Amino acid sequence: MRIAVACDHGGFVQKDAVIEHLKSLGHEVTDLGTNSEESVDYPDYADRAARMVSRGEADRAILICGTGIGMAITADKVPGVRATPVQTVKFAELARQHNNANVIALSGRFVSLEDNLVLVDTFLNTEFEGGRHAKRVEKIMREDDPAFPGVDA
Ligand code: RB5
Repeated sequence: MRIAVACDHGGFVQKDAVIEHLKSLGHEVTDLGTNSEESVDYPDYADRAARMVSRGEADRAILICGTGIGMAITADKVPGVRATPVQTVKFAELARQHNNANVIALSGRFVSLEDNLVLVDTFLNTEFEGGRHAKRVEKIMREDDPAFPGVDA
């Protein structure tokens, strides 16, 4: 897979190891930084990775910040992106099976590298179930359209 990886200073400590792991599995990785523990604004890095997915230049993106929350919130606002923070294997699995997530955001501060690598593997190896979930994911994607008036309009 083509995978975009980005982090802020809160995720930098794990980024290189995540990239090495992905490369060892044969994935094509684009490293979008940051490249030190110097403080940066996580939306800038989440945006670059999410837009690669949105433009079809990456199949998935993996983001790492302190909690995973801010980068996921940012990425999810980019059209075509379904992003979520994940902290447990079950959530990584369900994010794929039910939500067809194409971006995950990891916590570099509160989840160990070892555990995050399992989350990465789960994210990459779990298929979307489709079926009843397909209709719901289509409804999620309506929200990308500025002309969508909302369900009660
Ligand atoms: C940076 O201090 C921190 O706010 C960021 O890494 C992330 O946790 C935001 O959600």
